[in-house]
Amino acid sequence: MPLARSMSITSLSGMEEWDEEFDLEDAVLFEIAWEVANKVGGIYTVIQTKARLTVEEWGENYFLVGPYVESNVRTQVELIEPTNPALKRTIDKMNSSGCKFAAQCEEPPHILAHFHEWLAGLGLALCRQRLLPVATIFTTHATLLGRYLCAGSVDFYNNLANFNVDKEAGDRQIYHRYCLERTAARCAHVFTTVSQITAVEAEHLLKRKPDIITPNGLNVKKFSAMHEFQNLHAQSKNRIQEFVRGHFYGHLDFNLDKCLFLFIAGRYEFSNKGADIFLEALARLNYLLRVNHSDVTVVAFFIMPARTNNFNVETLKGQAVRKQLWDTAHTVKERFGKKLYESLLIGQLPDVSKMLDKEDFTMMKRAIFATQRQCQPPICTHNMLEDSTDPILTCIRRIGLFNSSADRVKVIFHPEFLSSTSPLLPMDYEEFVRGCHLGVFPSYYEPWGYTPAECTVMGIPSISTNLSGFGCFMEEHIADPSAYGIYILDRRYRGVDESCNQLTSYLFQFCQQSRRARIIQRNRTERLSDLLDWRYLGRYYISARHMALAKAFPDTFFYQPHDSETAQGFRYPRPASVPPSPALSRHSSPHHSEAEDEDDRYDEDEEAEKDRLNIRQPLALPTKKGPLPYP
Ligand code: UDP
Ligand code: G6P
Ligand code: GLC
Repeated sequence: MPLARSMSITSLSGMEEWDEEFDLEDAVLFEIAWEVANKVGGIYTVIQTKARLTVEEWGENYFLVGPYVESNVRTQVELIEPTNPALKRTIDKMNSSGCKFAAQCEEPPHILAHFHEWLAGLGLALCRQRLLPVATIFTTHATLLGRYLCAGSVDFYNNLANFNVDKEAGDRQIYHRYCLERTAARCAHVFTTVSQITAVEAEHLLKRKPDIITPNGLNVKKFSAMHEFQNLHAQSKNRIQEFVRGHFYGHLDFNLDKCLFLFIAGRYEFSNKGADIFLEALARLNYLLRVNHSDVTVVAFFIMPARTNNFNVETLKGQAVRKQLWDTAHTVKERFGKKLYESLLIGQLPDVSKMLDKEDFTMMKRAIFATQRQCQPPICTHNMLEDSTDPILTCIRRIGLFNSSADRVKVIFHPEFLSSTSPLLPMDYEEFVRGCHLGVFPSYYEPWGYTPAECTVMGIPSISTNLSGFGCFMEEHIADPSAYGIYILDRRYRGVDESCNQLTSYLFQFCQQSRRARIIQRNRTERLSDLLDWRYLGRYYISARHMALAKAFPDTFFYQPHDSETAQGFRYPRPASVPPSPALSRHSSPHHSEAEDEDDRYDEDEEAEKDRLNIRQPLALPTKKGPLPYP
C-alpha cells in the first residue's frame, strides 16, 4: 500500500486541515522501544494501541523496532520481506555484517526516529553524536530517578526543585542509566512525556522542559447496541463468580449475588502503585462493613506479577473441586431427567420421592465430602519465591485480612498477568476488567496510568489519584468526575492516613450503591470513552513528529506551533441526569427491588441520551486552526 500524500489521516473527523503542509512520501518513521512486541507494562499498550493510527498516517513507511525475544516473535510477529529496497539492502547488510549502520540509498529519505525511554535512548544519543541526518524524538514515560525516589520514603512532589540529581542517582546506583535518560532528553530534537505532572518532574530531574505532552490513548470499541458493554460485564462477572466459587469452596457462606469485585493491576511497585494504601483501606472497609452488618462481600484482586514457581496446589484444587461438584450435579440431573422422561412416556406423573435413588445420594455425598477443608481459602494463587518478604503478603499478615468467614472483605493475590490459557482463571485481562465492579489504582507515582483508562473505555468505574497523569487529565476535562464513576483520590495535599480514609470512604460508598445505581454509573463512565480515544489523542504524537521533522529538516518541513498555551480546555459537564453523587441516586419507587433493575436501566436511556447530547458538543475535535484543548 503506497503512502498517501499529504497525510492519509485526512479521513479522521475534524482533522482535515491538520497536516496540509506535510508531505510524508519521502519520509520514514522508526519507533524504537523495549516494549515493542514485548509486554512489560503500559508502554507496550502505548505502542500496540497506537500502531493502527500511525499506520494510517505513515503506511508502509512506519517501522517498529524492539528487542528480539524468540517467544514474542513466534506469538506476536508476522515475518515478512521488506518491500522498500533501501530497507531491504540495510537489513541484508546488517545481517551479513553484524549490526552496523548502513544508509545506502541514492536519494535518502527523511528519517524520523522516535525513541521511548532510556533503554532506547542510547540509539538517540548515538544518532546525534555521529551527526546522522535523522530527526529524533524522545518520549519518556516516567523518569528513572522519580520512580526510585518515590519508591523510597521521600516527600517527592514538595522537593522536586531541591534534589541534587547526580547524588541521588549515584546513591541509588542508577547513575549510568540516569545519564542515558538525561542525555536522550537533552539532545532529542523534540522531547515529550505523557502528562503534565511528569513534564514538571522531567523539567526538574532531567533539566529539560518537554516540548509537547503526548497523553496516552486507546482504541475505543464502538458497539452497535448501546448496552452491549453491560451485557459483557454480566458475562465476564459470571466467569469471575465461577472462579470465586472454586477458590472459596467449603467457605461459600456469602451471597455471590451481593458480592463486589474490586481489583488493582499493573507492574509490581508496591507503594508507587498504591497497593499499600489499598490494603490499608480494605482493612478499614472490612471493619465498616462488619460493624454496619452489611450483607455485601468484597473480593479484592491484586494482579501484580512477582517471582513464583507456579500455581499452588490448594488453589488448583479449589477449581477441581468446583468442577467435580458441577459434574456431579450434571450427572444427577441427567439421571433425574431420564426417569422423568420415562415416566411421562407411559403417561404418568412421576413419583417425586423416587426420582433420586441411593446411588444419586451417594454420589452427591461424596462430592460434598470433597468440599471440606481444614484451612482458610488461600490469599495467594501461586507459590511465591519470596513469600516471607513479599510486601503484599507481609502487609496482609499485619492487617489480618485472612479470608476468614467473618471477613466481609476477601483478598486474592494473583502474582501473574492474566491469560485466557490459564488453568486457574482462564480470562484475558480485558475480560477480567469487564467483569469487575471497580478498579482501584491509588498510585503515588504514576506518569499516566493505563489501568484506570482501560476501565473507563470498558465502562467500569475506577479510583485513581491526583498524582497520576490520568487522574489529572480527567480532573481537568470533567466537571464532576465522580458522577461519571471516575473517583480521584487526593494524594497531593493530604497525608497518607487522610488519603487512606478518603479511599475507605469511596469504597464504603461504592459498596452501598444499589445494582441500579451501579448500572447507571457504568453507563456514564462508558460515555467518557471518546476522550481517551487515539482518534482524539493521537494528534499530539502527530504534532511531535511534525515538530521534529521541521527542526531537523527546516528546508523541507515547516511546523507552525499550535496555540496550545492560550487554549481554553473543554470540560465535560455534569451529567444532565445527575444525582449529585451516585450513592444518592434515588429509585423511582420506594419499594424498588433488584428484579426491577433491568427495567430501570432502560428507563434511564432517555436520560442517558440527554447526557450524551450534552457532552457530544464540547468533544468536537479541534482542527489545526483551532486551539488545542490540552495541554
Ligand atoms: N496488564 C495486562 N495484564 C494484566 C494486568 C495488566 O496486560 O493482567 C496491562 C494493562 O492492560 C495496562 C498495563 O498492564 O495496559 C499497565 O500499564 P500502566 O500504565 O497502568 O502501568 P505501568 O505498569 O506501565 O507502570
Ligand atoms: C449489566 C447487565 C444486567 C445485570 C447487571 C449486573 O448491566 O446487563 O443484566 O443485572 O450488569 O450489575 P452488577 O453491578 O450487579 O454486576
Ligand atoms: C509507564 C508509567 C505509566 C504509564 C506507562 C505508559 O510505565 O509507569 O504510568 O501509563 O508508562 O505511558
